[in-house]
Amino acid sequence: MTRIIGTSEDEIKIAAETLKNGGTVVFPTETVYGLGANALDESAVRKIFKAKGRPSDNPLIVHISDLNQLNELVSIIPESLHMLAEKFWPGPLTLVMKKSSIVPDIVSAGLSTVGIRMPDHPVALNLLRHAGIPVAAPSANISGSPSPTQADHVIADMNGKVDVIIDGGDCRVGLESTVLDISGEVPEVLRPGGITAEQIKSVLGEIKIDKFIYGKPLDRSAKPKSPGVKYKHYSPKAEVILFDGDLDMVISEINTQANKLAEHKKVGIMATEQTKNSYSCGLVISSGDRNHPKTIAANFFKLLRNFDEQGVDVILIEGVDKQGVGMAIMNRMIRAAGHNIIQCGS
Ligand code: TXA
Ligand code: MG
Repeated sequence: MTRIIGTSEDEIKIAAETLKNGGTVVFPTETVYGLGANALDESAVRKIFKAKGRPSDNPLIVHISDLNQLNELVSIIPESLHMLAEKFWPGPLTLVMKKSSIVPDIVSAGLSTVGIRMPDHPVALNLLRHAGIPVAAPSANISGSPSPTQADHVIADMNGKVDVIIDGGDCRVGLESTVLDISGEVPEVLRPGGITAEQIKSVLGEIKIDKFIYGKPLDRSAKPKSPGVKYKHYSPKAEVILFDGDLDMVISEINTQANKLAEHKKVGIMATEQTKNSYSCGLVISSGDRNHPKTIAANFFKLLRNFDEQGVDVILIEGVDKQGVGMAIMNRMIRAAGHNIIQCGS
């Protein structure tokens, strides 16, 4: 049985006890909801993989509320850690470092590194402080489906599979954290997210960006640096087609395709404030304002689920500019589309 609770001090204490006793707790963060368990307890962590149906070779992020917790979790603290933590923690940045021997192999999926972040959400921080342990937590969705940004998404995916769900309202950022590997010589972005590559460059100077960010999915035997990139991700039940390129041509191509598809399918169009009146058929929903791409990030996963709820068969999505948080948005759009992309114009 899953207990669904609110965010009062007493309720957070109940959730913290559940974590200390080896149970599973879904909690809100500023990015997406996380499905947490004691990171140092192998059998507790196993419950996360089971509830999500997650492949065992995909490592988990460990959440902390205090910088001092790092000392026991990592074997080498890179010089860049302090600059990054000072600027971006608490916040949507996961830092990959060499792990210490107390981090069970199940957490790191057998890698020699561990990803750590301090979430910027009062409920998450309060829960972590009361629990007093590092908490391993992936996004609280069934493996492969869109990450949950509201409690009802979590309830749809996880009710009956976890011990506690904390309903903490909507997640502000709406996309997962940036994963930055600082275990090697040159820091490398493995997954774009809430903290942009430009923001990281302003602190560290040159950084690398993993080539799989917009790349093709790999076969299952491949060994990319961030194992998560080889799995199908963020997929609603509907088919997704992404339209990228010149915006006028994108609109025109979506209209052409929507009219054709509407003959035998229910069509959804993920538009923006600037373009929502440009379509002549289909269920048109605006994801946000192109001049403020954070609004699009905040709504993206929610809209994938909304289209499914409305019985849409195929979702046609307008691509966005890859600058700033646009890199993370396009990464999620490309993967939700399973690389089903129509390039419009040059
Ligand atoms: O915002 C977030 O990061 C959310 C919230 C709950 O904190 N968590 C999250 O976790 O998105 P998850 O498990 O859905 O995604 C973690 C990603 C995966 O792509 C995984 O492969 C990568 O981070 N990752 C974790 N540990 C890693 C490591 N040691 N080396 C390389 N990649 C790692
Ligand atoms: Mg995830």
